[in-house]
Amino acid sequence: MKKINIEYNKIYKEFENNKEFKKLSESIHHGLTRLEHVNRVARWSFCLSKILKLDNLSTTRGALLHDFFTSNDINRENYSSFLKEHPLIALENSKKYFELNEIEEDIICKHMYPITRTKPKYKESILVSLIDKVVSCYEAVRFQTATALGITILFLYNIK
Ligand SMILES: [Fe+2]
Ligand SMILES: [Fe+2]
Repeated sequence: MKKINIEYNKIYKEFENNKEFKKLSESIHHGLTRLEHVNRVARWSFCLSKILKLDNLSTTRGALLHDFFTSNDINRENYSSFLKEHPLIALENSKKYFELNEIEEDIICKHMYPITRTKPKYKESILVSLIDKVVSCYEAVRFQTATALGITILFLYNIK
């Protein structure tokens, strides 16, 4: 576990010092910060790509950048266009601040497949897209459960 953390942190170092990337800690995503979300997706991607003997560095970098946008970059009012457009915004932001290879670009812009119509080209992109969906479901349930529990406690506390 310690070895995995050291290896992961080595990759993450490039991102943690980037001023724009740090702003993900100010955006809320499924009740957590977007920085927590991309890190959760990237850690799983890091571990599973190692087990599956895929390109570990590209998978982890792509996963870290797959939701690289802030609330200022998007229009939340139209949720369906947000779902389709945010991968391209994340790709544009990523290219501004980091050097990307083809696999990393594919991971970022195809991670919402099948909502975005183009199929992922690489195994690494399929893996990150799947992990993102599982993690998003987990985070949504966890947050909603926490909210429901909080409301229940408030209710029980206030009722006499
Ligand atoms: Fe996303
Ligand atoms: Fe995501």
